[in-house]
Amino acid sequence: MAYATEDNITDLAIERWATAKDPRLAELMTGLVTHLHDFAREVRLTEEEWITAIGWLTRTGQISDEKREEFILASDVLGLSMLVVQMNNGFVPEATPATVLGPFHIDGSPAAPYGWDMSDGIAGTPFFITGTVRSTDGTPIGGAVLDVWQADADGNYEAQLGMDEARLRAKYETREDGTYCLRSIVPLGYAIPMDGPVGDLIARTEISHFRPAHIHFLFEEDGYERLVTHLFAEGTQYLEDDVVFGTKAELITPFVLHDGGVAPDGTTIDGPFVTAEYDFVLQPSAAV
Ligand code: BEZ
Ligand code: FE
Repeated sequence: MAYATEDNITDLAIERWATAKDPRLAELMTGLVTHLHDFAREVRLTEEEWITAIGWLTRTGQISDEKREEFILASDVLGLSMLVVQMNNGFVPEATPATVLGPFHIDGSPAAPYGWDMSDGIAGTPFFITGTVRSTDGTPIGGAVLDVWQADADGNYEAQLGMDEARLRAKYETREDGTYCLRSIVPLGYAIPMDGPVGDLIARTEISHFRPAHIHFLFEEDGYERLVTHLFAEGTQYLEDDVVFGTKAELITPFVLHDGGVAPDGTTIDGPFVTAEYDFVLQPSAAV
C-alpha cells in the first residue's frame, strides 16, 4: 500500500475505480480519472479555480429541476452533446441525420390529427410543414408519430414558462401513405437561457448565445432507429454559429413565405403564411 503523492495519485485512483463491479462502469470511471487528472496537470489547476468550478457545478445542480435541465445545457454548449449524438447516430447517408435533443422536450404531448394547429391561437405567422415519413428503401411509414416541439415568437418553450397545459407541442401521426401535415407558427431564432451558471460562463466569452430558427422532431418507431432531429429555416441567422453546434446542412430547408391563399391544410388564409416541405427518412434498426 502506498500513500498518495503528486506522481502516483493517478495510478492509485485508477486502481481503485477499476474495481467497479460492472466492467463498463470500470472503463468509464478509470477513463474519467485519467483525463481529469491529465487536465488538472496540464492547466496546473489552482485550489481557487477548483473551488470556483465546484461552486459552478453546485449552482448548475441547484437551478435544475424536472423542467430546467442546466446540465444538458452545459453539455450542449461544450459540444459534448453533439459529439455523443454524432458517435451514436451514424446513420446511412439516405437517412435523416440526428441532432441535439436540447433541454426542452416534454413527454406525453397531445395526439394531433393531420393538419391540426398546435399553436392554438399563440401569436405568430401561420406555419405549415408537410411531407412524408419513409424508410431508407423508400417505403412510406403509415401511422408514424412525429413528436414536435418549438419555441414561441419570444423564444420561450413551454418548459420555461411553467405552464400546466401543452403549449406548442404535439404528436402528429402520418396517414396510411406516410404523409403528414402540421400547423403551427413560424419559429424564430432565440437565445439559450442566459440567467443561470451556463449563461454566466458564456457571457465571459465572445460566444454567440443564439440558436438559428428551428423546430424539433422526435421519432420512436418500432423497427427503426430512434431519431431526434430539427428542421432549420434556410437563410436564417446563426446557422453557422449555432451555440450548441446542432445545425446540419441536410436539415436546412426553405421556409417559403406566401401572401395569402389556400394553405396546405386546405383552409384559406387572408394574411401571410409560411410553408415548408420535408420528407423524414428513418433508418431500419440494426436488429431488423
Ligand atoms: C433547443 O433547441 O431547444 C436547445 C438545444 C440546446 C440548448 C438549448 C436549447
Ligand atoms: Fe429548440
